Amino acid sequence: MRALVIDRTGGPEELQVREVPDPLRISDEVLVRVVAAGVNPIDAKTRKGNRVSQAIEHWPVVLGGDFAGVVEEVPYADHPLRPGDRVYGMGRVPRTSGSYAELIAVSSLSVAPMPSTLTFAEAAAVPIAAMTAWGAVVETAKVHDGQRMLVHAAAGGVGAFAVQLARYFGARVTATCSAGNRDFVASLGAHRVIDYRSERFEDVAGEQDVVIDLVGNTADDTGTRSLGVLRPRGLVVNVPTGSWPSMAEEAAERGIRATGYSVAPDARVLSVLGRLIDDGAVRVHVDRVLPLEDGAEAHRLIEDGHVRGKLVLRVAPDPD
Ligand SMILES: NC(=O)c1ccc[n+]([C@@H]2O[C@H](COP(=O)([O-])OP(=O)(O)OC[C@H]3O[C@@H](n4cnc5c(N)ncnc54)[C@H](OP(=O)(O)O)[C@@H]3O)[C@@H](O)[C@H]2O)c1
Repeated sequence: MRALVIDRTGGPEELQVREVPDPLRISDEVLVRVVAAGVNPIDAKTRKGNRVSQAIEHWPVVLGGDFAGVVEEVPYADHPLRPGDRVYGMGRVPRTSGSYAELIAVSSLSVAPMPSTLTFAEAAAVPIAAMTAWGAVVETAKVHDGQRMLVHAAAGGVGAFAVQLARYFGARVTATCSAGNRDFVASLGAHRVIDYRSERFEDVAGEQDVVIDLVGNTADDTGTRSLGVLRPRGLVVNVPTGSWPSMAEEAAERGIRATGYSVAPDARVLSVLGRLIDDGAVRVHVDRVLPLEDGAEAHRLIEDGHVRGKLVLRVAPDPD
């Protein structure tokens, strides 16, 4: 199969399109013919050699977590998924080979029917970002009517879904982004949008019950400063792993609850998200679709940190 691979960790130029052996489908896995693959910051971090990359056992490695495509093989004849079904889902790179490739083998528990109102490119933009937003906003923060929630990096992949889910479940949403994304973030349902470059969010946000922190202390001490907007016993959910090592101690000192979050592939959550998307309650914004050959450019853009919504790689033409 054709795949975008790396032979070693390093810069975006390490990404090369090449023929590699097809993945072997085993046990409960489905084999999916990938049409489009989402690009996520973790792909670039792994390519660069972060902690996750230390789990790579064989080279070359195919990166890429999420995908949309068509089922090629199922585990057994009466499986609920059928060959030809349009699906979207999330792999477990680098434990298994990734989605920047024509074929991916993934647990059937990681795959759900694609939302019928989306194109393949739009569907590939959903799994990791939207499941992360669901995990942070719904499962961890237990979003509810009237809850005051501040979402950082609201214009990005996770943030755009987080704002929409928080609003859908009745939260009073405040969101941070740069000035050029103000209208976009407001259109997602944020009640109040703060330009983090011209205002200090802690001066204007008012008291919050929850902060969904998609930045941490990697920029302007965003994590630490977030503690200042939370009510006593409020909750900060910090999503970028390793972005704020002293979070637990700092939060405890101030009487704030704090937790990290790590996304897990979950077909049931994908099915619920698919319903919300098809009902028009959640929309998907794709910033750009690039061909697989432009993987290096996609990684440069994602590392720059200012993608609006999602970046997607086209792996194959849409099937008829
Ligand atoms: N733990 C997990 O399971 C998990 C899962 C998914 C993602 N993550 C992590 O969560 C983070 C967010 O992921 P993502 O996919 O949403 O990233 P992304 O799409 O690349 O985020 C880009 C957005 O970040 C915004 N931004 C950049 N600096 C900002 C700042 N200082 N304050 C506010 N907004 C800022 C940009 O808005 P402007 O252009 O307006 O500045 C841009 O729209 C990443 O670190 C990712 O690795 C972790």
